[in-house]
Amino acid sequence: MSPKHLLLLGGYGNTGLPLARLLLAHSDCSITLAGRSLEKARQAAERLNAQIPGNRVRAACTDAADVSSLRQAFQGADMVVVVSSTAEYAENVARAALESRADYFDVQYGKAKMDCLQSLAEEIEAAGRCFITDGGFHPGLPAAMVRFVAPHFERLESANVGSVIQIDWGRLDLSPATLREFVAEFMSFQTLHFKDGRWQEMSALAMMFPRFMDFGGEFRRRYCLPMFLEEMRALPEMYPSLRETGFFVGGFNWFVDWFLSPLILVGLKLFPQKGATPLANLMFWGLKTFSRPPYGTLLKLEARGIKHGAPHIAEMTIAHPDGYMLTAIPAAACLLQVLEGGVRQPGLWLQAHIVEPRRFFGDMQRMGAAIRTVGLDEPAK
Ligand SMILES: NC(=O)c1ccc[n+]([C@@H]2O[C@H](COP(=O)([O-])OP(=O)(O)OC[C@H]3O[C@@H](n4cnc5c(N)ncnc54)[C@H](OP(=O)(O)O)[C@@H]3O)[C@@H](O)[C@H]2O)c1
Repeated sequence: MSPKHLLLLGGYGNTGLPLARLLLAHSDCSITLAGRSLEKARQAAERLNAQIPGNRVRAACTDAADVSSLRQAFQGADMVVVVSSTAEYAENVARAALESRADYFDVQYGKAKMDCLQSLAEEIEAAGRCFITDGGFHPGLPAAMVRFVAPHFERLESANVGSVIQIDWGRLDLSPATLREFVAEFMSFQTLHFKDGRWQEMSALAMMFPRFMDFGGEFRRRYCLPMFLEEMRALPEMYPSLRETGFFVGGFNWFVDWFLSPLILVGLKLFPQKGATPLANLMFWGLKTFSRPPYGTLLKLEARGIKHGAPHIAEMTIAHPDGYMLTAIPAAACLLQVLEGGVRQPGLWLQAHIVEPRRFFGDMQRMGAAIRTVGLDEPAK
């Protein structure tokens, strides 16, 4: 099989660069780093070529807002990997990938992007292309963790995944587009979670009394709110014994959680267009000013059910000190499975559902994620 060529849209960004490094280190693929600045793409490509043998990295200039520039950039790519804050241009990117006969992978979160890709699902399958969406760590990991743990139970009854994202925001260089996208996504999340055998939203009153999860170690007990991820939707059908499942996101810091978030929510409702940039800047200021160590990113699955006829509890935690590495590592682990052809199938898939979980988490560990399990000594059946 000849080496594949991947175009990373946003390839010189915070997620794109570590992903490019991992793909070059763990596969024989070649890569084009692309974004709106040819200069930044060139400099990043030169650095990677100097660090990793084989001269496998090129640079390109393209703007997701401009379909013809995308078509030109995507020529010759076997796969387009979207690590850019361009969810608003999802249709441009997906259509240009289809027209260029390229496969597709993204790490974006957002309902509009998901709706757009779902509306293209038949076209994607008919064209024989493999499109994978919701890559990264969240979305991307929670349902894969449940799939990994489920075979260790005869009856899986409860599987909740919580997250801590404690970042030193002051050290990050985020583009204005990324900030706007981040705030818009954060403010539009749904609180759907599966409880007592049915999907339910959390009421505004219930949000005043969030659930607590114990993340152990330096992160300890934290309050969390449910955040619906598309990958969780199919779990009750896949495991009919499930009575409870959901993804729960921990807060950022006291000031952003209790003061800024409600303010920004109201601001965005009143001024969705004009308010986006100043409110995104306000959010970033709150994140930079009030976030404190310990820094790190962690996901924890708490699972309950029946094993060998008796009640059983299992846990799985995945952590990395750098949140961007924890985004790039699962993306790279998924792409390795696709590049080798093992899981590649025509159609629209979610990362958490298309990966083979054992190899996926094994590769993630090899790439530097700290994975710890409790109560998973041997599969139940
Ligand atoms: N699933 C997960 O776990 C997860 C975790 C973290 C981040 N993410 C997502 O990953 C994406 C990237 O985040 P990041 O923090 O890595 O962002 P970032 O560091 O700001 O990088 C964004 C990249 O996108 C490029 N870009 C922005 N607008 C573009 C356009 N119109 N056309 C072409 N390229 C464009 C930027 O380059 P130019 O501005 O020079 O064009 C830059 O290279 C976001 O959508 C974010 O939500 C997902």
